This record gives sequence, structure tokens and C-alpha cells, in this order.
Amino acid sequence: MMKVGGYVEVMSKSYDIAVIPGDGTGPEVVTEGIKVLKSVSGRCDFNLKFTYYDVGGEHYIKTGETLSDETIKSIIKQDAIYLGAIGHPDIKPGILEKGILLKLRFELDQYINFRPVKLYEGVDTPLKDKGPEEIDFVVVRENTEGLYTGAGGCLKRGTVDEVAVQESINTRKGVERCVRYAFEHCKRRNKKKKVTLCGKTNVLTFAFDLWERVFYEVAREYPDIETDYAHVDATCMWMVKNPEWFDVIVTDNMFGDIITDLGAMIQGGMGIAAGANINPEGVSMFEPIGGSAPKYTGMQTINPIAAISAAQIMIETLGESRAASMIETAVIKVLREDIKDVSAGKMGYSTSEVGDLVVAHIEKND
Ligand code: IPM
Ligand code: MN
Repeated sequence: MMKVGGYVEVMSKSYDIAVIPGDGTGPEVVTEGIKVLKSVSGRCDFNLKFTYYDVGGEHYIKTGETLSDETIKSIIKQDAIYLGAIGHPDIKPGILEKGILLKLRFELDQYINFRPVKLYEGVDTPLKDKGPEEIDFVVVRENTEGLYTGAGGCLKRGTVDEVAVQESINTRKGVERCVRYAFEHCKRRNKKKKVTLCGKTNVLTFAFDLWERVFYEVAREYPDIETDYAHVDATCMWMVKNPEWFDVIVTDNMFGDIITDLGAMIQGGMGIAAGANINPEGVSMFEPIGGSAPKYTGMQTINPIAAISAAQIMIETLGESRAASMIETAVIKVLREDIKDVSAGKMGYSTSEVGDLVVAHIEKND
């Protein structure tokens, strides 16, 4: 609030958003997300200031730089990051992933990877006899530890005596904050009120012993929430056979990576799936999880709904719930009434027309 000439004027809120359109179809879908964000921010009386960052495969090829300290220092001052996609067919796997995506997650301590798996009406799922009633849960994946830290090494590489070790790091603090986030989210979500720990206690007897102890310890603080446990292999089975059993799944980094791709498929595919890398005390990053899809670049055939839903999670996380639910209501309408097939090239609309449809529904509902 600011005092102007004796009056107290309520300033509308303003958020600084770092935009990384990135590679492939990233820029196309980000454009649509921003179109939708502008429409709701105008209606809900908050401002968004977008600062674009040239980061990704193209930038790496031109400059040899993945993510400079300077860029990180600048991004860290923003309120959130909106990311399109990182990935380039001509760059060796690992360089951009480690140098950009994982670096941002680690440096900004985005310790939660948050992935809603929700089947909207009118969207096809490959699961027979399952519909929106049965497919509605979230995966809370630990996002800074486990097999992703790069701990390990190799010896005598390229020889017959070669040894490769890649270690899973699980800290008490890292596990606890992730598990606690899952229970808190379950409480907020207020649906089935059940948190399932997905692990592998029968084989990974050090790592998941820690996870299991922490899980049941934290659960004691949430007597209204039911607890459940499933091994990761069984989790995959139940996600296909009985997805209605799940409400919130909490798991480590690697298992979370794997089961969320399965989740994306049962909710209708990569064109729909959105995710967030969250630091509840810091700067979070929001993205469609489908990747850069290079073969569709510039064709305006890719589905922007995943990016639009990522924008929705972003403003929800920033505290703009009304604007977020305006986006979701419009997305639901577009999926139910307009788009017949959510896959790239089969939507019956171009990428930018789908963005326009979402905006049109927002305007109609307002
Ligand atoms: C994801 C992606 C990343 C991961 C890759 C691109 C490093 O698959 O966000 O799930 O493995 O976490
Ligand atoms: Mn993944």
C-alpha cells in the first residue's frame, strides 16, 4: 500500500516472471500461455512483467554456454519462471539437461516436482473403462536428490575392467520436506485424503528405510489423512489397473520421473501434462512436460494446453487462485467442447487457435 496525497491507495499486485521459451516447440506453446495469462491478469487486477531469457540448445550452439551465473543471478530475483522446453537433437544427451534444467532445479532448491494427473472430460485415455472420476491424483516427486545429484563416478572407462557407480543420495532433511509437502498438499486438496508412499523397501533397504520411517513419522501429524505404501513396480501396475486408488503419491526423484510419464499418458498425453518445480520458500519453475518435440517446430500443430495449464499452476502458486480457476474452467471447456483429439496435428486447430479458444472462453465466462 502507498499513501498518495493523504489517501491510501491499494496498488494492484505485480509479479515478475522469467520466461524461458527455450527450444523446439517451446516458444510456440509459451506464446499461448502468455496470451492466456494476459487475459486473466487484466480481469483479476494483477500485473505480470515478463522478462525473456535466451537459454537453451540454440543459445548453447551459438555461445557454448548453458546457463551463466549472471543469468541465474537475474532469474533468482524474479517471482517465478515460465519454461517452454529445453532439448536439441544435435546436442549430446546430458549437456542441456544437467547444464540448464537440473542446474535451475538444484541452484534454486526447487525441491518438489509437482505433477497433477487429471483426466479432463472429453479427453481420451488409453485405460479401458476409466474416466475423469477415476483419474485424478497428483505425484509429489523429490526434485533435488536421489539418483539425480551426479554422485558417483567411473573407473577405467572404455576398458574391460570398467566400473560405473551412480549413487542415490537421500538426506533426512530432503526426504522430510518432500513428505511434509505431500501431506500438506493432500490436506489442501481435500479429496480422498490419502497419501501413498511409492518406494522399493524390499530391495533399496537403506534409502527407502529412511523414506518409510520419515513418512510414518510425518503422517502422525495428519491423523485425518490415510496412509498407504506401494512398491514402484506395483505403483505402475495400479496406475493402470486402479488409478482411482490414488490421491497424492510421494516418491523419490528417479521413481517420480518414471511414474509421471506413465501418469501423463493416462491423462491423455504430453499435450496435456503440466508440471512444476517448486521451492515453496523461493523461486519456482513451471513447464509443460512434453519436451521440445523438434519435429513439430514452427508448424503450429503442437497442443499448447500443457503450457497453459503450467501457467495456471504458476499463478495458483503465486496466490492468484481466482485467475487460476478461470484458466482451468476455460481449459475444461476447450477440451470438452472444441478439441476432438489432443495429439499434435490432430486437434483440428492450430496451436495459436487453441490459445485463442481458451481466451474466448475466459472472456465469455467473465
Ligand atoms: C522431467 C524430465 C527431466 C528429468 C530430464 C529432461 C532431465 O524427464 O522433468 O521429468 O529427468 O527430470
Ligand atoms: Mn521425466
